[in-house]
Amino acid sequence: MRLLQGKGGTHPGSKGLTRDEVLAWLKEEEELRLEFLWQGADQTRCERVGGEVHLRGLIELSSYCRRDCHYCGIRGSRKIERYRMTEGEVMGCARTAQKLEYGTVVLQSGEDLGLTGDFITALVRRIKTETPLAVTLSLGERSREELTEWRAAGADRYLLKHETSDPELFARIHPENGDCPRSSARGTGPSFPNPRIELLKQVRELGYEIGSGVMVGIPGQSHESLADDIMLFRDLDLEMIGCGPFVPHPETPLGRLAVPGESPGTVPGFDSARSQVPATDLMTTKVVALTRLVCPDANIPSTTALATVNKEHGRELGLERGANVWMPNLTPPKYRALYEIYPGKALVIDTEQFHANLLATLQRIGRVPGKGPGSRKR
Ligand code: 5AD
Repeated sequence: MRLLQGKGGTHPGSKGLTRDEVLAWLKEEEELRLEFLWQGADQTRCERVGGEVHLRGLIELSSYCRRDCHYCGIRGSRKIERYRMTEGEVMGCARTAQKLEYGTVVLQSGEDLGLTGDFITALVRRIKTETPLAVTLSLGERSREELTEWRAAGADRYLLKHETSDPELFARIHPENGDCPRSSARGTGPSFPNPRIELLKQVRELGYEIGSGVMVGIPGQSHESLADDIMLFRDLDLEMIGCGPFVPHPETPLGRLAVPGESPGTVPGFDSARSQVPATDLMTTKVVALTRLVCPDANIPSTTALATVNKEHGRELGLERGANVWMPNLTPPKYRALYEIYPGKALVIDTEQFHANLLATLQRIGRVPGKGPGSRKR
């Protein structure tokens, strides 16, 4: 196969990888051959987006959620303590981001209608007038009216991970529930397209930079569907692409499915016979590397989920295999443990201490913190 020529062979080119080639790389196990993939991705990263690692301060502003996604620790039906930050608290985090010279803040939450359109509008306007920060919103499937208003208030980017392009798998892990109709389709299921993909296209039309991504190793995810996801990244011409491993949360239906001997709870139709993508750091970095090759100019984070499954080296591995973005968590410590979308994530560490560690890591791998908002260049 092209691009798999072993020793002395060529690197995977940054143009024109076909779906079949992407699929073959996803299934590749040979370490020497994978070395070509890592080198090709790192070289493309270096040539196209350079040595800067853009820093985006993550502010998890509310843990309320009206959805009930089968993998997520803050799914609406869980009886857990919830919080919603005040405007003042969010502004405090934004000032920290500015002080640490991050170019962007990411306002992320469960899909919480208690965060009203007007509240977000006022917040975005304040951040944009009082700081030089770019603002990324990641608030779930919200209405066109709200998205339009937030853009007018100055929001720069919108993140909405489509999680999987396999319509059957998407429907299986994203149950409909009575009080939250889907934003574009009239329902979900194999015959309906993933509604988030439609919404992303609308968000782009409103003038946002758009970001999506997938979880790697969702129970029921095949290598074929993951190859489709990577080709979809290119078709959508995404500015931002975040991919992390699925991390089982024991208090969720999909988490129980991943624990042998536990009841899968309410995941109907799960078929354990299909070729299952492993939720490992290796598999995730294959996805990151291929994403860099297929979308050479995109901003690609080395995700916290990757750093969670490989605590020692995950973050660096991502950055050395195609990623160019790091999203440090700026959420106030008292809220972090309550935003546990997967276990092991809510590591509470002092923001300044974390920042010092981050700078040391970048220096060790020969990279520098990004300057300015760090929008996609091409
Ligand atoms: N494992 C890994 N990632 C998860 N997310 C939610 N639950 C999990 C999990 N169990 C990710 C999803 C979501 C983002 C906010 O967190 O990709 O879009």
